[in-house]
Amino acid sequence: MLHARLIVDHTATRIPLDRRIFGSFVEHLGRAVYDGIYEPAHPTADGAGFRRDVIDLVTELGVTTIRYPGGNFVSGFRWEDSVGPREQRPTRLDLAWHSRETNEVGLHEFADWLERVDSDLMLAVNLGTRGTLEALDLLEYANLESGTALAELRTSNGRERPFGARMWCLGNEMDGPWQIGHRSADDYGKLAAQTARAMRMVDPELELVVCGSSSWSMPTFGEWERVVLGHTYDDVDFISCHAYYEERDGDLTSFLASAVDMDAFIDQVVATIDHVKAVKRSDHVVNISFDEWNVWYNDRFENVDKITGAQNWPVAPRLLEDVYTVADAVVVGNLLISMLRHADRVRSASLAQLVNVIAPIMTEPGGPAWRQTTFFPFALTSRFARGSVVPSRVESPQHATRAYGDVLTVDAVTTLDEATGRLSVFAVNRSQTDSVELTVTMPPRGTRSPFTHVDSWTLNDSDPHATNTLDAPERIRPKENTSASLRGEEIVVTLPPVSWTVVVADH
Ligand code: AHR
Repeated sequence: MLHARLIVDHTATRIPLDRRIFGSFVEHLGRAVYDGIYEPAHPTADGAGFRRDVIDLVTELGVTTIRYPGGNFVSGFRWEDSVGPREQRPTRLDLAWHSRETNEVGLHEFADWLERVDSDLMLAVNLGTRGTLEALDLLEYANLESGTALAELRTSNGRERPFGARMWCLGNEMDGPWQIGHRSADDYGKLAAQTARAMRMVDPELELVVCGSSSWSMPTFGEWERVVLGHTYDDVDFISCHAYYEERDGDLTSFLASAVDMDAFIDQVVATIDHVKAVKRSDHVVNISFDEWNVWYNDRFENVDKITGAQNWPVAPRLLEDVYTVADAVVVGNLLISMLRHADRVRSASLAQLVNVIAPIMTEPGGPAWRQTTFFPFALTSRFARGSVVPSRVESPQHATRAYGDVLTVDAVTTLDEATGRLSVFAVNRSQTDSVELTVTMPPRGTRSPFTHVDSWTLNDSDPHATNTLDAPERIRPKENTSASLRGEEIVVTLPPVSWTVVVADH
């Protein structure tokens, strides 16, 4: 058994947690919408065609904000197609995913569904093939109460009350050569600045997200952020980060340490934001919207699933339906730990995505919906990470990785809910061989722990590649970790190999 210590500094300034960090993402891609959240013929479907079993799982997941409608999809999207009488909505080609979009579900239907899952709308505008005017039109249609052509059109389309979207993404991954309308940082920065200023003329209270790099492995990373923020700094509130991780070439050791990469990525984007702030002598603070993050076996998509053919445009094909393992769930839990640790600057995030497409929730047409392994760390972190993040330090054994050199075997973060006094500790053990006894110390030493009770749940399995599937949907679930206890002023818990754990301490 190895030993690690988490030293929680109650004297340090706490970081208030923005619950938008527990956001997600629904793109018109594969079976995310059709045969995912929406399946009118399903036995659980409600009057509007939405699957109630999926609504229940999304609610259980604890998602606060949902980014919509893309993703790469948005760069070919005409929002007008997705509103108005359904029988008049056109079917279009979706070039991003080589599919056909029927527009049966559009802005109105999606907003109605969001009310069912108690989540807020985060809308993306198309700055790939469209521009400022179309973004303004969508804003007017979505948010203006009445008195203009587009506000009245919304009312005549059945929705008097505006959608009231507060967060808006100024395009998607505009640095990526795969993006329709891909631009240089300079061209995109100018377009984003013009669009942001115009949108703020409609409503200065909007929160605007400018596109950062689609990954920090992009050759333009860093310079892209500097140039784009050079154009937009005082007109936006967030710059986006996107990161996907996967186990490559059987290197589970490096994969389990993916959060080391996310930590460094966030630090570098923050440094670039603050460099631009300094150059501009600005008082304004730009934060990070980590609006795409997850494990994604992208190689599988590129080499197996990709759809081609000039006459082959399926509706809602099975795309990006990754089946997640216990190890994937441990990485997802650790990525959340990384973002919580950076909660001073990561003020919004979107797990990409939500249903069927690289998703914590899977569905079968006419059949069940179930939780993937990655569902659990997200749901439990969203449930128990309340209040503030309390700065802490991990003292842990280290081990070697091919991708990141020596890494801490244990990573952890702590939140304190000031309203209830509850302390929550989220921890991973990245070792494949050793259990680790984690001791949580709360200085000042020598005083008794104020807590009287601890509960803990751990996600692990003797097979780190075990999954939940249609045939065995409950193979993996978090189990109560009975090793968690109060020992004097400290909390002690045993973390099995390749595991994610939450410990909750109450008065
Ligand atoms: O989430 C899947 C895709 O990943 C999104 O459409 C795109 O923005 C990113 O490359």
